[in-house]
Amino acid sequence: MSKHLNYEVLVIGSGAAGLTLALQLADKARVAVLSKGQLHEGSTWFAQGGIAAVLDDQDSVDAHVEDTLNAGAGLCHPDAVRHVVERSKEAINWLIDQGVNFTKESPDGDYHLTKEGGHSHRRIIHSADATGRAVHSTLIQNIKSNPNIDIFEDHVALNLITQADSGSRKLRCNGAYVLDRKSDQVDVFQAKSVVLATGGASKVYLYTSNPDGASGDGIAMAWRAGCRVANMEFNQFHPTCLYHPKAKSFLITEALRGEGAHLKLPNGERFMKRFDEREELAPRDVVARAIDHEMKRLGCDCVYLDISHKSPEFIAEHFPTVKARCLEFGIDITRESIPVVPAAHYTCGGVVVDFNGQTDLTNLYAIGESSFTGLHGANRMASNSLLECVVYAQAAAHSIEAALPDIKTPETSKGWDESRVTNSDEDVVISHNWDELRRFMWDYVGIVRTRKRLERAEHRIKLLQKEIAEYYSNYNVSNDLIELRNLALVAELIIRSASQRRESRGLHYSPDYPNLENVARDSILVPTNFAGQDVIVSKD
Ligand code: FAD
Ligand code: SIN
Repeated sequence: MSKHLNYEVLVIGSGAAGLTLALQLADKARVAVLSKGQLHEGSTWFAQGGIAAVLDDQDSVDAHVEDTLNAGAGLCHPDAVRHVVERSKEAINWLIDQGVNFTKESPDGDYHLTKEGGHSHRRIIHSADATGRAVHSTLIQNIKSNPNIDIFEDHVALNLITQADSGSRKLRCNGAYVLDRKSDQVDVFQAKSVVLATGGASKVYLYTSNPDGASGDGIAMAWRAGCRVANMEFNQFHPTCLYHPKAKSFLITEALRGEGAHLKLPNGERFMKRFDEREELAPRDVVARAIDHEMKRLGCDCVYLDISHKSPEFIAEHFPTVKARCLEFGIDITRESIPVVPAAHYTCGGVVVDFNGQTDLTNLYAIGESSFTGLHGANRMASNSLLECVVYAQAAAHSIEAALPDIKTPETSKGWDESRVTNSDEDVVISHNWDELRRFMWDYVGIVRTRKRLERAEHRIKLLQKEIAEYYSNYNVSNDLIELRNLALVAELIIRSASQRRESRGLHYSPDYPNLENVARDSILVPTNFAGQDVIVSKD
């Protein structure tokens, strides 16, 4: 039997963004937190480098703002950047109050601050090279012991429930249809406020640093429900993921370069000077493109990252996770260089929101990597995303708290209609389309995009979406089908945004349009059922 549940706040996603918001609201409202796998399975757990914040007396809000604007290649919203950076110290203090154990210079000393690409100061607070695990395990422990938060693991939201406000053209969000992966039933979760905290969409690419599940579900659900989505062409490729046939998605943190590691060609030659005077500490788009260029020029499978000139004690203290993981593959980073390649890492675009994380739909918020706040522009600066998660989760929590007393309990929604679907007997369609989609996105819409390749990708995605839509209307939903359908939609949005951009800016590079346009413009896509205008309520 499917369930019908009512909450004041429904949080879809249990990463840094979702858990921060849940903890901030728990003593004011009844909160449900959904996670499509186990609580720790999003990107947050795997974050390595740290969190950027203005914590040092020699540093300043202005300097952090300026570095972020520079990395963002003219497309950041300066007011959003300032909004986040001004709240960075408060965000870190909140995490410390929650119990996060950041690395200190000495047991009684100040916090150790490291450096990454694009930063003009040491301003990254971290927990050795496993900051995500330190933050996430603390937040998970805290929500587990909070009696006002109900946790639903293995629950996959598949569509938002919306309703037209009487007398208004606007839609509001009342909840979500949610697949319980254990019972295979689709449940109805209703709430006065719904928060998308579903993370990014880098799984749309064949090679990625992200865990399974980064399939852009929140972006796809919001788009289908009538929200605008922006800047999807700016998918960030991290320059250095471990290159080894058995190492799935293992990142080599940028903090290695921050602490002096060198990038080298297979013959041992350093090459970054030829691309940027900041060398290894140029922003990520520059470094990833330089590596891609050199790999294509030389026909080599990878380049190398070398920190072996530092003492073994320094490496063991600062990079214990990277050292141990590389050793599992027979690479001793204290003595030899690490084979690395770029991989899809971060979705700079997402659901359009305001300073409170409010989307185009009344009572629907988006926070963290699923949202588009204007902070990252055309290229996110390293370690600004966990900061964005915490700052916007806090802002959204305040906004929801203020709004809740005036929101009526939603009318009971109808259950999920399964009357016309059966169990699939050809799941191979799903696995085949997953592979095809991720490969052509990597080949045609990757680090370098030409007009021709984008046209090919556009053609392919239309065919795939038609096949997926047929499958979706005939068969029962499963996690793989939900993710594939969402990935295909996200791929379409990326291709559309990339095709519209007639310039090269930040992470979007096209040899057909190698120059910058004079005016920097966001790529804002508006759905045909835009919640701010035409009211269309449907299952899709
Ligand atoms: P996530 O942490 O990805 O969580 C998403 C949550 O949504 C998960 O709980 C998932 O189960 C749930 N979910 C998704 N879809 C559904 C659905 N349909 N139904 C129910 N639940 C759903 N950033 C930094 O600032 N500093 C770093 O050092 C850093 N290092 C990184 C290293 C790696 C390897 C990676 C992959 C990323 C790194 N980032 C870093 C980026 C940063 O970790 C992420 O941007 C951030 O953690 C995103 O947090 P989030 O809460 O938005 O989403
Ligand atoms: C890293 O540690 O290199 C990742 C940092 C980030 O993505 O912000």
